Amino acid sequence: MKRYIDLIEKTLDEYIPIKYPEEIYKSMRYSVLAGGKRLRPTICLETCKIFGGNIEDALPIACAIEMLHVQSLIHDDLPCIDNDDYRRGKLSNHKAFSESTAVLAGDALISYAIQTIIEKSKNLSENKVLKLIKLYTDAAGVNGIIAGQIVDIQSEGKKIDEKTLEYIHTHKTADMFRFAFKAGGVTAGVSDETLETLDELGIKLGFAFQICDDILDETSTFEEMGKTLGKDEAEEKSTYTRLFGLKNAECKVNCLIDECYDILGKHNIKSNILEDIFASVKRKAKI
Ligand code: IPE
Ligand code: IPE
Ligand code: MG
Ligand code: MG
Ligand code: MG
Repeated sequence: MKRYIDLIEKTLDEYIPIKYPEEIYKSMRYSVLAGGKRLRPTICLETCKIFGGNIEDALPIACAIEMLHVQSLIHDDLPCIDNDDYRRGKLSNHKAFSESTAVLAGDALISYAIQTIIEKSKNLSENKVLKLIKLYTDAAGVNGIIAGQIVDIQSEGKKIDEKTLEYIHTHKTADMFRFAFKAGGVTAGVSDETLETLDELGIKLGFAFQICDDILDETSTFEEMGKTLGKDEAEEKSTYTRLFGLKNAECKVNCLIDECYDILGKHNIKSNILEDIFASVKRKAKI
């Protein structure tokens, strides 16, 4: 895991040099290189390796996934969305720079990530690059993160049903995990059937991950999470814990994670890295 994280961080550093206009590059680098667990790019690299692909070939798409993730965090923290002052243990982008710079840095990362896929994926066929860009736009677009985020905002202070909550979690969070698994698969050249299995893994892990994040918002500390907690309750966010209580939320996470292990077992996929990621979500959910 550490080897992957070091490789991802070194490559992100190389991919985003500071050029004119410096302020925008500095702002992008500030958030992209601020640490974080790097789960999504790690999943991408590991999935590529599991299915016989070359990790070097998956590095551009893995870094693009992290850039898109960071964009979603920068915009999620803006005063007009979640209004959070801290991220990854540091001031949020709009606090360290300005609101206008944070909006533009997020916008810049969306296209910079696509540019990265196109310009750096030198060893991949045009067909694979096209498939990766399609996965990217599915996750980033109006039926992906944006869809989840808009319904998340609309649901503040409202009583929503389980189906709507599932919609929010699937799109704002699970779509990025689906993207990460499938991008690794596409790079390695897996079959459509395997892509469906990877999609299923992404949905379950992503869903569990968001419920876990909601639990931690109520039970963890700033030191552990690097962001202001207790905000979901204050903003009357629609979360799994708010709808069903902490205990049921913990059960749901553990159930979903068990299903992730089952998928690996059923398809004879062996990966200590994926198992460690599953375990980290499950363990953290313990109340
Ligand atoms: C935060 O994701 C956003 C959610 C989907 C809850 P992470 O918890 O993976 O954030 P970093 O990348 O480690 O900062
Ligand atoms: C994040 O959900 C989903 C994104 C698309 C960024 P949250 O709003 O719960 O994430 P945190 O708690 O701010 O990291
Ligand atoms: Mg949010
Ligand atoms: Mg938030
Ligand atoms: Mg949260």
